[in-house]
Amino acid sequence: MTAQIDHALEEIRRFRPSPEFAAQSVADPGLYEAARTDRLGFWADQARSLLQWEKPFTRTLDWSNPPFAKWFDDGELNVAVNCLDRHVAAGLGDRVAIHWEGEPGDSRTITYAELTDEVKRAANVLTDLGVGEGDRVAIYLPMIPEAVVSMLAVARIGAIHSVVFGGFSAESLASRIDDAEASVVITADGGFRKGKIFPLKLTVDDALERSAGSVKQVLVVRRGENEVAWNDERDHWWHETVGRASNDHEPKAFGAEQPLFILYTSGTTGKPKGILHTSGGYLTQAAFTHKNVFDLHPERDVYWCTADVGWITGHSYVVYGPLANGATQVLFEGTPDTPHPGRWWEIVEKYGVTILYTAPTAIRSFMKLGRQIPHEFNLRTLRVLGSVGEPINPEAWIWYRHVIGGGSIPVVDTWWQTETGAIMISALPGITDLKPGSAQVPIPGISVDILTDEGEHIVGEGGGLLVITEPWPSMLRGIWGDPERFKETYWEKFGDKYFAGDGARRDEDGDFWLLGRVDDVMNVSGHRLSTAEIESSLVAHPWTAEAAVVGAHDETTGQAVVAFVILKASQEEHGNDAVLASEELRTHVARQIGPIARPRQVFIVNELPKTRSGKIMRRLLRDLAEGREIGDTTTLADTSIMQIISAQVR
Ligand code: WT7
Repeated sequence: MTAQIDHALEEIRRFRPSPEFAAQSVADPGLYEAARTDRLGFWADQARSLLQWEKPFTRTLDWSNPPFAKWFDDGELNVAVNCLDRHVAAGLGDRVAIHWEGEPGDSRTITYAELTDEVKRAANVLTDLGVGEGDRVAIYLPMIPEAVVSMLAVARIGAIHSVVFGGFSAESLASRIDDAEASVVITADGGFRKGKIFPLKLTVDDALERSAGSVKQVLVVRRGENEVAWNDERDHWWHETVGRASNDHEPKAFGAEQPLFILYTSGTTGKPKGILHTSGGYLTQAAFTHKNVFDLHPERDVYWCTADVGWITGHSYVVYGPLANGATQVLFEGTPDTPHPGRWWEIVEKYGVTILYTAPTAIRSFMKLGRQIPHEFNLRTLRVLGSVGEPINPEAWIWYRHVIGGGSIPVVDTWWQTETGAIMISALPGITDLKPGSAQVPIPGISVDILTDEGEHIVGEGGGLLVITEPWPSMLRGIWGDPERFKETYWEKFGDKYFAGDGARRDEDGDFWLLGRVDDVMNVSGHRLSTAEIESSLVAHPWTAEAAVVGAHDETTGQAVVAFVILKASQEEHGNDAVLASEELRTHVARQIGPIARPRQVFIVNELPKTRSGKIMRRLLRDLAEGREIGDTTTLADTSIMQIISAQVR
């Protein structure tokens, strides 16, 4: 056993693109060559070929005042026109933009012509409500077409949207409204979730009571048909305003650096950061990656990204990337298991989905339920599968490819962040030999590196800190109202290089493996271990459905590995003897990675604490493992979970 075992879990499977897939691939290897030869020229070419500019740009990148980048900044465009009008003008008005499926099973089909019309009406209404260029509009909606319409209408008039996920509380909504000083909120009476109506308007009313008072107008979509309180001075029904507005709207062109949106994300401190994205560069990279990473053939593909528009994935890969590329997509309001656990697969069958983009946590929960559920549906239209949000362990990757993808279609694992705006590291499905568990290679035009804590480049293999070494088109332009925090958080550690906060290693082929947030890296007796790697090992055991690992303080070894494991439904018999099950899993990890990685404890539990976006809150598990009082649980999807887990552990 060597001192460094942070990559002892060898993954050796490789999957070459099939000749048929490679032959029809939209991306060709020349992209890498072009980007290597002239990185800025490459991005300028992409911006010109993927987007419609009202005024062409002459400057590609201005990096004279780092870390504040300007891309294509003397060019002018309208983001909404790029997502809508130009497709209609090109004769694609009858193409379906959105196949919307509501949770109760109601549905709507919206063409590009119809979507353009609706956005023009909404743009007129926003202008009537006093929203001007640069003003902030908060959007707090369920996954209904009006969410997409609202975002594009805000963009169309040069205002800035701040979408707040519909699962956030009144308090979180209020703090986001206040931070951005939004003047308008767009919401709905209610939305559907697991068969019940959640009353969004009520939450908005509550948030506005708590907020500092910047909001003057509230636009309300009728969706839940639930009773709502009404303030005649402030509240307007969508169907009475947008429904009656003119569909005549002359778009203005805005500078490429016109702010497009703010999206709040949690940092290491309590206060959420308002990540700011702008127009030309963001749209270029969103469109480029959406096209090349998913091998998009807009004339025949039916694309489905399961993310909510309240997250960055929903911004870049439900709204901006797909619509800029003229794609046809599915938009789904509900959850995977309502009214039955085959709901997603029923939707894939119904619309003939060809490209599916989702998260490992979803895949693992389907694994837990077993393959018989997806097997009841026809999934043969699928041809590309994507994953995002956390490292996808090889077992889940293989299951995804086999059970959902039928065994032979590409799975792309895409690494990026709210801050990066678009995909940064991923295979390209017609080009790259796929390696389960590795996010693989920077996309063309992106430069990343792995450094030691002291900022030294790590030669060859070995783990370290992931940095982005050159500015990229869709990079965040700052934190809303807090330029100092922007510099401190991302740029202070390594000067001119962007510090992503993730650990990573490069293997002998130059492929990148993400090792989790650096705060999830453990140090056991001086050996570095990744939580992700031990979780991957645990999940590879046939009994395991899900696992979360934390580094807990230990008197002798510094930190010790503590695991929380959910057993598969089919293996629950083993849970009857939790002592035996945990012993088996400890031995398994020791066998697979090395004795140093053997968890000190493996707790068999029924649930893991997850945020509303599906991220496991290891901080809370660490509190439990270290015998402390459990910290703040308000961002959990279900705040009672920690009590249940604590009871099981004790
Ligand atoms: C963090 C960013 C990007 C949209 C969803 C999350 C982790 C994301 C991967 C991946 C390993 C990943 C990283 C990153 N992450 N994708 N494919 N492999 N880790 O956006 O909430 O801004 O979170 O998610 O730790 O830093 P986010």
